Order: sequence, then C-alpha cells, then structure tokens
Amino acid sequence: MGFIARVLLVYEVIRWEEKALLDVAKEIDLDVEPVHLYSTAIQVGSNGLKDVLKTNAEIALQRAISHTIALNSTIALESLGVRVINNSMSTSIAMNKLWTLSILSRYGIKTPRTLVAFSDEACFKYAQILGYPIVLKPIDGSWGRLIAMARDEEELRAILEHRSYIPNPSMKVHMLQEFVNKPNRDIRVFVVGDEVPVAIYRVSSHWITNTARGGKAEPAKIDDELRELVLKVAKLIGIEIAGIDVFEDRDRGYIVNEINAVPEFKNTVAATGYKLHLKIMEYVKSQLKK
Ligand SMILES: Nc1ncnc2c1ncn2[C@@H]1O[C@H](COP(=O)(O)OP(=O)(O)O)[C@@H](O)[C@H]1O
Ligand SMILES: [Mg+2]
Repeated sequence: MGFIARVLLVYEVIRWEEKALLDVAKEIDLDVEPVHLYSTAIQVGSNGLKDVLKTNAEIALQRAISHTIALNSTIALESLGVRVINNSMSTSIAMNKLWTLSILSRYGIKTPRTLVAFSDEACFKYAQILGYPIVLKPIDGSWGRLIAMARDEEELRAILEHRSYIPNPSMKVHMLQEFVNKPNRDIRVFVVGDEVPVAIYRVSSHWITNTARGGKAEPAKIDDELRELVLKVAKLIGIEIAGIDVFEDRDRGYIVNEINAVPEFKNTVAATGYKLHLKIMEYVKSQLKK
C-alpha cells in the first residue's frame, strides 16, 4: 500500500477527534492521508517487501486509541524515517505513569507523593508510612480505569486481592499515591509545540474527574505559572502534543499528575469553543520542511 501524502494520520477508529483533524486539514490545504492500522502492515525498515505500507511521508500524527498500538506503530513508522508526533520515546514515557513521575520529580517538578512496591507485604507496610487514604493505580491505565482508593488496611487488602486476579503483568507493580487534597476539579492542560492553547477544568463531585467517568468540562484559566510548568514538563519528556493532568493542591499549588500522548479533546472543544484540532494541524503543517 502506497501512501503518497507528506502527512499521515494513523488511527484505529475515526472518533470525533480524528474526523475533526481530517476535516480541518482540508480547510488549511494540508494533504493528510489517513492510515487505518487494522488494514495494513508496516514494513520495519526498507526491507523491500511488496504490498506492505510504503511511504515517503515526513510526518505521521499518531491517533491510535490503544497505548500499545500507538507506541508500536510509532516505533515501526520511525524505522521508515517518518517523524511521528509524538515520537516513540516520549510516548513510552507518557504511557508509563511511574516513568513520567520518575523523570519529573528528578527535575524538581511537584508530583503526588508516590511509592512503588512489588509485594502485598510491602504495600501494607509502606501504605502506613504514606498515610491513609491512599490511591492505587495501574502504571499504564487511562480513562480512570482500575484506580482505587484505600482508606484503611482492609480496603487495601481487597484492592490487592482484586489486582492479583487481573491477568496483566503490570498488576504486579503497585503504585501507591497520597490522596491529593484538591478542590472538586482537576485541570487538563494542552500543549502543542511551544504553546499552551487551551485548558479545561474537569469538575466532579467524585474524586476521579475523568470526563469518561462523568467529570464535566469547563473552560479553565491558564496563568503564567501553569503555562511555564506544563511547557517545562513537555520539554523534559520530549513530547510535542500532550494533554497534561494537573492537580491544585491546597498547600503546594500545582502538582503534575500524568501526561497523555494521544489526548482526546472533544469535550474541550465543546466546553471552550477553541478549535484544538485546527491548532494541532497548523502545528503539523508548520513542521513540514519548507
Ligand atoms: N493521587 C491522587 N489524588 C487525588 N486524585 C487522584 C489521584 N490520582 C488520580 N486521581 C484522580 O483520578 C483521575 C484519574 O487518574 P490518572 O492518574 O489521571 O489516570 P488515568 O490515566 O486513568 O486518567 C485523576 O484525573 C484524578 O481525578
Ligand atoms: Mg488522567
């Protein structure tokens, strides 16, 4: 399969976001070819095989839903010399919440107090040191899935027992976090290149505020401190386009929770009227060789 456009948009399913990105590309005269990842195989390096994905594209915008498919299709496309936005290194760091926090905390960014433990015994012992209530979350989750709060040892025991029956090796890695004392909202801030074009509050009466879990999107204010913080975070991870989750801790101010490398933004556009799809495609266009 030959892809001739200079820009590819790789996807599994066309959601609202992918449709908006493809539609707006036409408006700005950017030729973008959609690549359906289920309908092709990507050649790894130029090994001369016929009838697999061939392309001279300069840039591919990664829009796969599954983290694993996004990361691995990015890795394969990079073998063909395509610059993928986001690149494989920043995608793998963002995919792993522990790796993200490891890098950010090393460079002095405020993050939730976090421990990682590899046995139930260690969890019980160190949860006490961290102090209840604690949050347990998968290192590679999204949409608020499998995140739980333990208010005491009995709840922690139940959560660990549930985790032990989930057939996913990453469930052997227990990330324990302080429960951050925040208002009834989080901030989702978007970075595109060197800009911070838009942010939303995710407001919820529940402590898990993901819009996939019923959090309501409202336009958020981006002050200088927040802008500088998320730009620094993006630079440290080497990520070009990102949705960054920030908590407002009552005592410590902004705390960076996690980074999303293939962010959804339908609710952001609906709540703010800001055309993030346009911003993203203009950025991609600006990155093409002149
Ligand atoms: N340590 C924490 N303290 C308080 N709330 C948290 C904490 N960790 C996660 N949450 C809540 O759960 C949501 C989902 O957690 P997050 O780490 O962003 O995982 P996901 O990748 O599933 O979005 C956050 O947006 C926030 O509302
Ligand atoms: Mg999140």
